[in-house]
Amino acid sequence: MRSELSGFLAELSWPRPQAPAFDPGSAPADPVVLFELWLREAVAHDVPAAHVMTLATVDVAGRPDARVTLLEDVDDHAFWLAASETSPKGKQLGRVPVAALVFHWPQQGRQVRVRGTVRSADEARTAAAFERLSAHARTEALEDRQSRPLHDEVWLSDALGDPSELLQLEEPGAASAPTWRLWGVDAGRMEFFQADPEGHHLRLRYSRDEVGGWETELLRP
Ligand SMILES: Cc1cc2nc3c(=O)[nH]c(=O)nc-3n(C[C@H](O)[C@H](O)[C@H](O)COP(=O)(O)O)c2cc1C
Repeated sequence: MRSELSGFLAELSWPRPQAPAFDPGSAPADPVVLFELWLREAVAHDVPAAHVMTLATVDVAGRPDARVTLLEDVDDHAFWLAASETSPKGKQLGRVPVAALVFHWPQQGRQVRVRGTVRSADEARTAAAFERLSAHARTEALEDRQSRPLHDEVWLSDALGDPSELLQLEEPGAASAPTWRLWGVDAGRMEFFQADPEGHHLRLRYSRDEVGGWETELLRP
């Protein structure tokens, strides 16, 4: 049965992107180089929050889950994000160390997909990232209550209180909150989608080969 929402959805049009030029034949051999180029182009074209990505994980029963997080860093084909190991996503990343990421830059009709295995950062890297957090984010990391129900707590602003006071939760000399960490998704496969206003969409997939190089292939859109 069609609902009002069905009708509303049917009226929504596909946004016509200002598709930038993309020639898969001259794409870089390294997908992270192409990712950086596209990310910089997204920012240069005022795509809001271009470094926000959907992070998909699975739990031990194989049930999928997804949410958005910030991309903290990229190095050596690992895409890094920050999350508590006690949050649902942290437990999933820890117990089933595989993940997928999706970036969507609609103004340009672009999507980048990343799939790979997951590892957590060493203490030095986590500590350096923790130091860069705002006082509010550090407080939340120290409280370590993300994704818990709020119903039996006072409203969040009261619960968090004054960050400068709550930061005293931090043990003197502690480099980071005990459960907060960076997680890296080691890309094994990356795919670049370029929409085209005329419908000639392009998909370029990179897959890691056995000697650490990359194979590419074009896919039907
Ligand atoms: C724009 C945006 C950025 C976010 N970035 C992060 C992030 O970097 N790390 C994080 O733990 N949660 C981030 N969140 C919150 C997550 O989407 C999610 O609600 C939260 O982490 C709980 O997820 P979980 O219950 O699956 O663990 C962000 C949310 C938004 C809307």
